[in-house]
Parts: sequence; structure tokens; C-alpha cells
Amino acid sequence: MAETGQDIRKARQFLQQDDLVAIPTETVYGLAGNAYSSDAVVKIFEVKNRPSFDPLIVHVPDLERVKEIITHLPEKAGMLAEAFWPGPLTLLLEKRPIIPDIVTSGLSTVAVRIPDHPLTLDLLRSLPFPLAAPSANPFGYVSPTTARHVDDQLGASIPYILDGGICHVGIESTIIGFKDDQPEVYRLGGISVEEVESVIGIVSVRRYSSAKPAAPGSLESHYAPGKKVVLAEYFSMEDSSDLNKTGLIRFKEPYPGVPIKNQTILSLSGDLKEAAKNLFSALRKMDELDVPYVIAELVPEEGLGRAINDRLRRAAAQE
Ligand code: TXA
Ligand code: MG
Repeated sequence: MAETGQDIRKARQFLQQDDLVAIPTETVYGLAGNAYSSDAVVKIFEVKNRPSFDPLIVHVPDLERVKEIITHLPEKAGMLAEAFWPGPLTLLLEKRPIIPDIVTSGLSTVAVRIPDHPLTLDLLRSLPFPLAAPSANPFGYVSPTTARHVDDQLGASIPYILDGGICHVGIESTIIGFKDDQPEVYRLGGISVEEVESVIGIVSVRRYSSAKPAAPGSLESHYAPGKKVVLAEYFSMEDSSDLNKTGLIRFKEPYPGVPIKNQTILSLSGDLKEAAKNLFSALRKMDELDVPYVIAELVPEEGLGRAINDRLRRAAAQE
């Protein structure tokens, strides 16, 4: 188990020695290391068991520090930064050489974000380098939204977890890239497409919103708990003979006939923000149940609901 606490000085000391520290953000916990140090970044890939072709997000405390690592801020990127930073938005921008190639998997762009969490902002301001941090989960598994989630899976591999409580957004940042300065959503996340469009006008959304281009017709499997997840639209409850052996993720209300202990309701009031905050804990809870599989109901496909459904579809995608 990793030492857990709120000691920014201790976190800083580990990071200055190229050790990794789990950090809280408003979206999910990150597995952080010195973004300028290839040694620290190699450890991130090892601890997560992450393939080296999957690049990392670099976290900085303010726009000045963004400008130290990028060559050019497209106009619409500047508008988004002003509207949503600090917050659950990541921008893909042309990188300066100070960012090692291993951080970006050799790409010319770096993913940058100013997270909205007081502890992590204080930590970032006190460091002479930015923090590369993917979500603090083993590759392919559900992202952590509490210090406990991090400790359960990565506690044995890292020296310190900075505990900032429950992540209040609960799903990862929205990722936006630019081609010839025109924006494109690479990953749906904590800022809805509607919010983005209210600032910069119509944007295109990558099909399946996977950060990597997916093969046509395939869904990248990710966010997968340790058991089979089936989307409710492909499953007929009425036909099922064994509802006692089913875990269930529901949006607003319990499903009669399935034991309550096997169900998770994302938001009794039908609030998509609350549903997003509860989503990853719900998937983890399903993992702990003594049931062979889980049925997940999609939520309304609007606002944050699009990002929630993206995660549920990918949790249900087969390897
Ligand atoms: O909310 C978040 O974004 C969290 C917190 C910790 O900040 N981080 C997070 O990181 O979700 P991660 O590594 O789990 O997801 C980052 C995604 C990956 O899918 C990666 O492929 C994509 O960002 N990405 C990073 N750099 C990229 C780049 N230059 N071009 C395209 N995609 C990139
Ligand atoms: Mg992740």
C-alpha cells in the first residue's frame, strides 16, 4: 500500500527524484511524473503497463507555463483555454523540443491541460517542471476517482498518493485537437460538446471519440471492469431467466426483479453531472459483486450523457 496524505512537500520531493506520485484532479486521479524527465516518464508507462504508442497528458498550473511547452496557440484554442481552464479540457498543441518524444509517443503535438484541483494546482505551481499524468489505473481498466481506487491497484508500485478526496467531475477531460487550426473533438469528456460549441461554434467529433483512430466498425475496448458488461439495448430483461445473477447499472431508478444490492443507480434525480461523477465507482462496485456479468443502461445521448455512453460502450466492447 502506498503512503496516502495531503502533504504537497512530500509529493514534491518524490517527483524531484523522478519517482511517481498519484495526484487528484477534478476528473480522475493521475499517475504523475516529471514531464521533462524521460526516466520518470518511462516509469509511468511501466507502472500502468501502458503501450508506448499511447501518449500522455501534460499538466501545468497556468497559461504562461502552457506557452513554455508549445509553439503556437490557435485562436480557437485560446478561446477554449480562456473559457474552460482550469477545468476538464485537454488541448493538443504543437510541442517544443523541451517535451521529450516519449511523452507524446513521437507525435509533434503535446496534450496539455490545467486541472481544476486546489492541491494539484499548488503542487504544480511549486514545481519547476510540468507533470505528465495519465489516469492512475492499469491500462485498459476503469479510471480511479478516489485515492482508495488508486491504492487498490497501483499502491504497491508508487511511494505516495496525494489525497484530494472524490473527483467531482468523475470522467476524464474532453480532448480537442486542431488541423489547420480547425478544432476536432478526439475524446468526449467532462466538458460537453454543447459547451464547447457555445464558445467556438460547430466542432466535429471523431467517430467513437477514441483518442486513437479506431479501425472502421470496431470499438476500442477500454474502461473495462474485470467482468463482462452488456448494454441493456442488446439484452432483453424479460427473457432472462436469472436476474438474481445479474449486476445492473441504471440511470435513474432501480429495475424491479433484480436484487437492490446488485444494482447501482447513477443519479436518482436524473442529473447527468451526478451520473458522470458516480460512473466509475459504479463499474468498480460491479466488479466486487458475486455476479458473472453486468447489464448497463445507456443514459440520454446529450450533454455529459454522450461521454458517459462512450465509456459504457467501450466498457462493453469485446477485446
Ligand atoms: O482527465 C484526464 O484527462 C485525466 C487526468 C489525470 O488529467 N487524464 C487522462 O489521461 O485521462 P489518459 O492517459 O488516461 O488519457 C489521455 C488520452 C489517451 O487516450 C491518449 O491517447 C490521448 O490522450 N493523447 C495524449 N496525447 C495525444 C496526442 N498528442 N494526440 C492524440 N491523442 C493524445
Ligand atoms: Mg486513461
